[in-house]
Amino acid sequence: MKAKLLKVDWYDPELTFITEAAGVLERGGLVAFPTETVYGLGADGLNSKAVISIFNAKGRPVDNPLILHVSEPSEVYKIAYPTPLAEKLMKSFWPGPLTLVLRAKDIVPPEATGGLDTVAVRMPSNQVANQLIRYAGVPVAGPSANRSGRPSPTDAEAVFKDLGDFVDIILDAGPTHVGVESTVLDVTGDKAVLLRPGGQSVEAISEVAGAVDLIGTTDQKKMSPGTRYRHYAPLVPLFLTGEGEPDPAPFLKRFSRIGYLGISDPEIDVTFRVIFTDIRSYARGLFSAMRELESKNVDAIVAEFPSEKGIGLALRDRLRRASGR
Ligand code: TXA
Ligand code: MG
Repeated sequence: MKAKLLKVDWYDPELTFITEAAGVLERGGLVAFPTETVYGLGADGLNSKAVISIFNAKGRPVDNPLILHVSEPSEVYKIAYPTPLAEKLMKSFWPGPLTLVLRAKDIVPPEATGGLDTVAVRMPSNQVANQLIRYAGVPVAGPSANRSGRPSPTDAEAVFKDLGDFVDIILDAGPTHVGVESTVLDVTGDKAVLLRPGGQSVEAISEVAGAVDLIGTTDQKKMSPGTRYRHYAPLVPLFLTGEGEPDPAPFLKRFSRIGYLGISDPEIDVTFRVIFTDIRSYARGLFSAMRELESKNVDAIVAEFPSEKGIGLALRDRLRRASGR
C-alpha cells in the first residue's frame, strides 16, 4: 500500500479531504497531517490497536510515549487533570507549539503513555490539524511523522519517503512554519519543568509560569523517555561550529564532500552550503536542509551552533543530538 497524497490549503483546508482523513482515523487507520511545527503521524489516541500501529510504522520504542492532540482546550478534561499552572499556560499559549505533560485519566490507553500515569497534550494552531481532530471527534495521537531516529519531516515529501508504505493518507499543506517540534513542559506539579525545548520559547513561558526548571536530574530524565534516544540524526556525521565549540577543521580532513548549515558564512571550504537569514528561518529549515544535503551525497555536515536565545535553545538541542553528543 502506498499513501494517498491529498493537497489541502494550509489556512482553509478542503472539507471533503478533512472528512475523508477523519474517516480513516475513525476506522483505526493512520493519517499524516501538518502542524505549525512538523508533520505528525496521526491515529485515534483512544484506540489501542491504532496507537500500536504508530509504533510499528515508526519503528519507535514502545516506552516512548505519544502526544495527544486536541482541537480545543475543553477536550483536555476528557483525558487529563490539568493543574492551575497548566490551565494558565493553556490560556496563554494554546493553540500553539507547547505540549503539556499532565496526570492522565484512565480513558487514555497505556500504549499511548508508555505505561506512565501522565499524558502529553497539545492543541496545534494549524487549521488542517485542528479540523482533522475536530472531525475525527477524538484526541489524535501524533508523534513526528518520521522513521524513529530520523530528522522530523517539515513537508509531505519527507513524510512520503519515510512512511509512504505505512500511512493511508498524507495531508499535504506545504512546508511547516516553525520547523522544530513543540516545547514539552511537565506541569504536574506547581513548578514547570522543561522536558524538551521547542517552538515556544522558555523566556515567554517564564513570563507566565515563573522560573522554569531545566531538565537535568536523573529523575527528570526518567520522566521524559524521549530524551533517552538519539534523535534527529542525518545519515552522515554532523559537526558543530561556533563560539565555544572546538574547531571542526581537524575532524573534517577525512571527508571530501562537506555540507554546511548556518546563518554566517562558513570559515572552511565546503561543497554545499545552506545559509539562513536569521534564527527563525534556521529553525524552520534545519530538518529539510539536513535531508537536502544528504540527497546531495555529502559525507559530512558542519552546522553553526547558534545562541540559546528564543528558539535558539531548541536549535541547539536538535543540533547537539544530531551530532551524537
Ligand atoms: O511539535 C510536536 O510536538 C510534534 C507535532 C506532530 O505535534 N510531535 C512530536 O511528537 O514531536 P514526538 O512523539 O516526536 O515527541 C514527543 C515527545 C517525546 O520526547 C516524548 O518522550 C515526550 O514528548 N512525551 C510524550 N509523553 C510524555 C509523558 N507522558 N511524559 C514525558 N514526556 C512525554
Ligand atoms: Mg519525534
